[in-house]
Amino acid sequence: MKLLEQGGSKMKILILAAGMGKRMNSKVPKVMHKILEKPILTWVVEKSLNLTAEVAVVLGHGIEQIKNIIPENVEIFEQKEQLGTAHAVMSAKNFLTGDNLLITYGDVPLISEKTLSDLIKMHEFEKNDATLITVDMENPFGYGRIVRINDKFNKIVEHKDASENELKINEINSGIAIFKTDKLVESLKKIKPNNAQKEYYLTDSFNFMDKVGILKIANQIEISGVNDRIQLSQLEKAARNIKLNELMLEGVTITDPESTYISYDTRIGRDTIIYPQTFIYGKNIIGEDCIIGPMTRIENCEVGNNSKIIHSECEKAVIKSNVSVGPFTRLREKAVLEENSKVGNFVEIKKTTLGKGSKASHLSYLGDAEIGEKVNIGAGTITCNYDGKNKFKTKIENNVFIGSNSSLVAPVTIEENATIGAGSVITKNVEKNSLALGRARQITKNNWKKEK
Ligand code: UD1
Ligand code: MG
Repeated sequence: MKLLEQGGSKMKILILAAGMGKRMNSKVPKVMHKILEKPILTWVVEKSLNLTAEVAVVLGHGIEQIKNIIPENVEIFEQKEQLGTAHAVMSAKNFLTGDNLLITYGDVPLISEKTLSDLIKMHEFEKNDATLITVDMENPFGYGRIVRINDKFNKIVEHKDASENELKINEINSGIAIFKTDKLVESLKKIKPNNAQKEYYLTDSFNFMDKVGILKIANQIEISGVNDRIQLSQLEKAARNIKLNELMLEGVTITDPESTYISYDTRIGRDTIIYPQTFIYGKNIIGEDCIIGPMTRIENCEVGNNSKIIHSECEKAVIKSNVSVGPFTRLREKAVLEENSKVGNFVEIKKTTLGKGSKASHLSYLGDAEIGEKVNIGAGTITCNYDGKNKFKTKIENNVFIGSNSSLVAPVTIEENATIGAGSVITKNVEKNSLALGRARQITKNNWKKEK
């Protein structure tokens, strides 16, 4: 059961994201820029959905593009003209029902679920009309300041409207707040754009609340918004550290966090060690006791337990348990390495299954192939899968031995236990237990040099 539905009261979350994001200097709407590969807005949407099933977003600039990243169960409201944060809330008029409404911003991605649920709990416990999140900022430039009288909340003044004294206040408004919905709706009717920016400020709604609570948090990063690409990179770094720290606390060793990148959607098992300059992108599941890196890129892969991937590139591949990969291996889409298999340097594998205990240790291309168990692929083996027009399959059954520098011209099947002599070009199927050679016979001319 979602928070706040427990006590019978109902909470909705409204995400404001209609602003332009001019300072990004981009063709792409601000909230679609990514942090750890995930759009900024998606961070907020996902966290909101974890807290309540009723989530809506207010969009304006770039609505056609942004719509595509909004899940179906999230309602979209359009704010055609951006007349301020209160106006944005009013644009979602039909959403303003229920007991409580939490308002957050689409460009503040790193707010934690814990902070949001602390806010909700405080709001309920203190029976406030509104409760907001604040933080002390060393440099509060640009933010709304929290004016307190006798330590109690009095009002919020926007930077542009603040007096000299008010500008000295370090406690700022995060913009994230929860309201009793009926009180909010009442207050919205009274807000006027009488300010420096001629906007309808949501911050003015607090002036019409009888009881306002403040949740002051310590971590500035949580409430930091993205306004330009410098802030984008700062939040990227912060998000990266949050992820790495999470993994380390879960039992993963990361020897050099500074040079390691691990995506949000990567799970890694206990006692796996990640060495420097390793980049793990996309969605990955990596098991326990693995050794990954140094200098490895993994993207959208599955890795079992106790496998080793050193100095390699792996994309959309499945690497089972006790497998050894690299150095200098390239695994491409649908490469499947079964248990106890081994792939070594300068081997490229695509749409190929390498069976249990099989080895391709050096200098090979294996594409569109099905390779059985305990097969030895000699150095320099190539599956010739492409005739310039179409791709064909190579099948290599259990216990086959492929001699070095062989070309297997697909479609072709090498049956179990067969041996291919080194340097062969194999164009016809080979029956089980046989030896196939496809190369010119060696000629030796004795005393050739002397006679010359
Ligand atoms: C707002 C707060 C300020 C706070 C700061 C925190 C007001 C009046 N001020 O100021 O007290 O310190 O956030 O970052 O609320 N938006 C719309 N429609 C609009 C205007 C804004 O959807 O018409 C959205 C924006 O996309 C953004 C959020 O609301 O996600 C905040 O808007 P922004 O213009 O950044 O407000 P600030 O001036 O930063
Ligand atoms: Mg802002």
